[in-house]
Amino acid sequence: MNKPAPQRASPIGFSGETSQSADIDAVFELSACNSLPQLDAAKAKYIGKNGIITLAMKGLSELAIENRKTHGIELNRQRDSVEKTYAARRQVLEHIKQYDSLAAEAIDVTLPGRGRGQGGIHPVMKTWQRVEEIFASIGFDVADGPEIEADWFNFTALNNPPNHPARSMQDTFYVDMNGTDGLPLLLRTHTSPMQVRYARMHAADVMAQGKPIKVIAPGRTYRVDSDATHSPMFHQVEGLWIAEDISFADLKGVYTDFLRRFFETNELQVRFRPSYFPFTEPSAEIDMKFESGPLKGKWLEISGSGQVHPSVVKNFGLDPEKYIGFAFGSGLERLTMLRYGIGDLRLFFEGDLRFLKQFA
Ligand code: DAH
Repeated sequence: MNKPAPQRASPIGFSGETSQSADIDAVFELSACNSLPQLDAAKAKYIGKNGIITLAMKGLSELAIENRKTHGIELNRQRDSVEKTYAARRQVLEHIKQYDSLAAEAIDVTLPGRGRGQGGIHPVMKTWQRVEEIFASIGFDVADGPEIEADWFNFTALNNPPNHPARSMQDTFYVDMNGTDGLPLLLRTHTSPMQVRYARMHAADVMAQGKPIKVIAPGRTYRVDSDATHSPMFHQVEGLWIAEDISFADLKGVYTDFLRRFFETNELQVRFRPSYFPFTEPSAEIDMKFESGPLKGKWLEISGSGQVHPSVVKNFGLDPEKYIGFAFGSGLERLTMLRYGIGDLRLFFEGDLRFLKQFA
């Protein structure tokens, strides 16, 4: 005989009397379940394949025929009652589960926002902007040009032919591609090639309308150089003023005016010290001296300059017998360092916010 082992809380005594209803136990048990797996296990205990009520149903055939019907009805009722309890509890547990996961994912909309962090203008860019404003206010056009430059514009047109010793002072980065002059393109070593580019574009207006060339060209420049006072990438501003009667006196006036406005002080002296550049003759180094403030009394070198060399004027497409003028080239980092009292050029390029925030 393969009779199931006697179970506790058997729904029906096979002796014929109705036992205590198994569904009452089941209702208590299922209602106390706190998780879905627990609930499923409890359901299986009563109405699963080998559940108490299921087995009792299978045992009906062993009952006397006259008892089968009433017991059958009773067992069906018990099974329905377990199923109902199961469904109700399941719904409750599912709600709880959903509620818990919503609570876990909840976003606290009352928290203060994270903010975007406000950017600031880099100190060298501030200088760039100031320089543009000041020169624009005295009638200078502002021009922009390529950082990858042809050898001819960067050197040859500026009286610096191949093999000229002055070239080695401006060693730079070369591009693996030739320019229209047949020589490798390079990263411009100074903004001076913009003199040639701009002048050649405007030479016709100069000749036809007598319009002067009066321009500054700020921008990035490159050299193979790296220490506390040199960076492989740095910024310059080029200035050029060409007409029929522009002299060194104009250069002195314009540049002194610029410096006084840039440093916001009239207590500043300027001197021109003889120097050499291939593209100017005569050439001068511009020095300045503060008469007050922390840098008071010290001559500081601030810019190269000179009267544009006749052969360069010729490369502008202009007659050097008729047109004359000056040029200068100043470092924007140098101007920035003097304005804010910064001692190490590398601070500009490290991106350290503790440094940069001071200018924001
Ligand atoms: N290009 C020169 C340099 O990078 C600076 C310079 C000197 C520019 C004299 C000029 C100038 O226009 O007249 O060192």
